[in-house]
Amino acid sequence: VDCVQKGRCMGEIPEQGKAERLGSRRELRDSPFLAAARGAPPSRIPVWYMRQAGRSLPEYRDRRGAVGMLEACSDPALVCELTLQPVRRHGVDAAILFSDIMVPLVASGVPLEIRSGVGPTIASPVRSAEDVAAIPSLYAESLAHLGEGLRLLVDELGPTPLIGFAGGPFTLASYLVEGGPSRDHLRTKAMMYAAPDLWHALMRKLTEMAVTSLQVQARAGADAVQLFDSWAGTLSERDYRAFVLPYSAQVFRALADAGIPRIHFGVGTSELLAAMRDAGADVVGVDWRVPLDQAVQRLRTVPPAVPGPVVQGNLDPALLLADDAILLGEADRVVESGRCAQGHIFNLGHGVPPEAPPDRISRLTDHIHALTPR
Ligand code: CP3
Repeated sequence: VDCVQKGRCMGEIPEQGKAERLGSRRELRDSPFLAAARGAPPSRIPVWYMRQAGRSLPEYRDRRGAVGMLEACSDPALVCELTLQPVRRHGVDAAILFSDIMVPLVASGVPLEIRSGVGPTIASPVRSAEDVAAIPSLYAESLAHLGEGLRLLVDELGPTPLIGFAGGPFTLASYLVEGGPSRDHLRTKAMMYAAPDLWHALMRKLTEMAVTSLQVQARAGADAVQLFDSWAGTLSERDYRAFVLPYSAQVFRALADAGIPRIHFGVGTSELLAAMRDAGADVVGVDWRVPLDQAVQRLRTVPPAVPGPVVQGNLDPALLLADDAILLGEADRVVESGRCAQGHIFNLGHGVPPEAPPDRISRLTDHIHALTPR
């Protein structure tokens, strides 16, 4: 079913408690993704991919056409369609809302663009106390289009759970302070060290935005949320704990009442895994730099948390450009090393590259589904 063709217009739906909503989607009870995220045994190893929607799919390129990224994100019917595409094609165990970490900033009124092949760029980077003060607050009403996209999806998805997401405070700050993508995040870290008051004021604003956005998504029917603090791995654990963790912890705390699994992800975070779990995540994403058995060791806290760590990842996305035998062999290794975790959600260590052949992604998905779950 195609949300765009149906062109439905949804009215305002009253807020519903999670328990009530789960009742209306009874089929979710068997979701391998939700079982694994809760540390329970899944019926099969759950699989989804970060950036599963997007340029790797010809149907995505067809539908997006010349529509700008941010424009696409503000069209609920198109959001619904683009979110469903990888679920239909690959049979993955979770959908992730088609949106971007910059959407809440746009909704609050910060002028920015997302350039294809480049990433987000900010018209006037945030460098001073005045700049931070000038960032407008985000009101839930400004994210009505996001909620509407989610509600369309909940109707369409049947037994497939839907993941909502937000950008983590460090990653959003990096785009705002640098003015665009950055390798070393020098200006961002310089602000953190040299102007801590300014830094904390900025973090407070971004935390509030992430909370508002995730609460809108949880209320509209998201079955799990992921906080993408993609670039936090540039920090030492000590600095991460001092300058970022308190804010991520606040985001996760604000979501506790929603009763849905909370996933925390970043790239190059091998040294931060325990801290990212301490922030209050139920599931920790692991990139490809550390094997899952070692990641699980790092995530075990003293005294051991009950239940044990649930991990997500960690196949190197570059393997999608190698041949099938190599790809599937490495995928087997990822699955084997993940067996010591309380739960493992199979994923890549970062997003699907636009060059990845879609048929190979489908074969990988089928291959993982044919393995015996823990
Ligand atoms: O399928 C999904 O994963 C859901 C959609 C999604 C997008 N962005 C769509 C998108 C998600 C979860 C994101 C999160 C996001 N956006 C992150 C965190 C995840 C990560 O990659 O670490 C970050 C850092 C961004 C910022 C951003 N937006 C970047 C770096 C880019 C890519 C720039 C490029 O063209 O290479 C974007 C644009 C973007 N977001 C695209 C998509 C599908 C590409 C848009 C296009 O078609 O040109």
